[in-house]
Amino acid sequence: MATNFLENDLQVEDSHICVVMVGLPARGKSLIAQKIVRYLKWLSVNAKSFNVGSYRRADTPRPTAEFFDTSNPEGERLRRAAAEAAVTDMLRWFEHENGHVGILDATNSTKARREWIKERCVAKGYDVLFVESKCDDEDLIMSNILEVKTTSPDYVGQDPELAARDFRERIRNYEKVYETVDEPDSTYVKLINVGSQVIINQVSNYLQTRIIYFTMNLHITPRSIWLSRHGESEFNVQGKIGGDASLSPRGLAYADALPELVKHSIGDKNVTLWTSTMKRTIQTARHLTYLKKQWKALDELDAGVCDGLTYEEIESKYPEDFRARDDDKYNYRYQGGESYRDVVIRLEPIIMEMERGENIMVVTHQAILRCIYAYFMNIPQDQSPWMEIPLHTVIKLTPRAYGTQEERFKANIPAVSTFRAKYTSANMGGEEGLVDEDKVLSPAATGAQVNGVVHPDEVESIVTPHHTATTPA
Ligand code: ATP
Ligand code: F6P
Repeated sequence: MATNFLENDLQVEDSHICVVMVGLPARGKSLIAQKIVRYLKWLSVNAKSFNVGSYRRADTPRPTAEFFDTSNPEGERLRRAAAEAAVTDMLRWFEHENGHVGILDATNSTKARREWIKERCVAKGYDVLFVESKCDDEDLIMSNILEVKTTSPDYVGQDPELAARDFRERIRNYEKVYETVDEPDSTYVKLINVGSQVIINQVSNYLQTRIIYFTMNLHITPRSIWLSRHGESEFNVQGKIGGDASLSPRGLAYADALPELVKHSIGDKNVTLWTSTMKRTIQTARHLTYLKKQWKALDELDAGVCDGLTYEEIESKYPEDFRARDDDKYNYRYQGGESYRDVVIRLEPIIMEMERGENIMVVTHQAILRCIYAYFMNIPQDQSPWMEIPLHTVIKLTPRAYGTQEERFKANIPAVSTFRAKYTSANMGGEEGLVDEDKVLSPAATGAQVNGVVHPDEVESIVTPHHTATTPA
């Protein structure tokens, strides 16, 4: 059985961490919670967010600010019941669904509430990590309210201006009782004004450190990420995998066309360009004038003894391996080479740099782009190694409040298709067609879609254990 790097080296199977979000409303807690879940699941750590607002909405779908006034006993009772239900489900999930990192996504704004949660977790032997988001930038808070709160189901059908006013009032009610995290015996990270200041206390294990480091790298500066495979290579034309071949004449034409292909969507933005250390990505990027960096970690998945063979040759020389790979492509490791799981582990620092960075263009390889794309678009491991990432196409990803927007720009230069469907071997070399001239450079050619994470306020009001895969609660 393939082993998980984290499980293997870090004893994740023994880890149970309850991450307790803390902060006033509209401080990005749900966004941070969802990103932690996405990151950990990408690294094969079983993680899930429990959004208390979703539980509350079962009984109180459209509360006004008054509901959140702590002198309102009925509001207090219902809010406490929602928190109890979420904590109970989370503890059950740890116990029965082998959960490693559960996130309790709520304001958890008083010491008494946090003490109660901690007691319940500690009684089960689980660690508690408080992640507090503090922000006093009024303009940012207002723009958060307008961006995500006025469209929440709490305010469905309401005038956005009235909704925003009510939400401000809700925040004021929380402010009356809010207590910042400063419990000396607790493990916590305090992110102040989107990480411009960070305070860390009492960190006790490696997984907690990873989570904290990840949250420290998050930012909300608008930016995009452009992804492209290298142009068609000589090996692609011959149907061979791996190697360090040069571009084919059509691949060179793609390199020539690339500056024009990205010109409109990049404009005058400051972009850093990353390639692998292999000839075909460096050649592809050669006419782009952005600041360049080569990463060994972006080199193609190492096919070991199969490097330089066609899929047909692999099937006839190593039939058992060929079959085993298709049975479980994510975990299968080529003899003397790598699996997709191995690639994800070596890409982790790249993902961290991408989270920290701003506009980045990455020119790399099929398997590598599948893993990077899977991270941003939240694609499960059984699907990611089978995704079609065509040659001669730029994918632009733009992180939004609760998802990633995708646009595709296809160059009008044909290339072979390197996609191979499960349990087949003979489809390398198939041609990808030319695109309609009118549609070249137009995102509308393939449409833009938002994916990756889900708006917590769009999930059903009460969340059953079956809604775990992509919903935050
Ligand atoms: P609520 O308590 O109402 O559920 P919340 O704290 O969970 O609110 P989110 O729903 O996550 O807030 O708010 C998302 C908005 O917060 C987005 O517009 C996002 O850009 C912004 N945001 C993300 N991170 C931060 C941060 N660290 N500080 C302030 N705003 C942030
Ligand atoms: O065929 C192009 C290529 O980049 C190979 O070098 C690499 O082995 C392969 O794609 C990865 O795709 P898959 O995992 O589907 O074999």
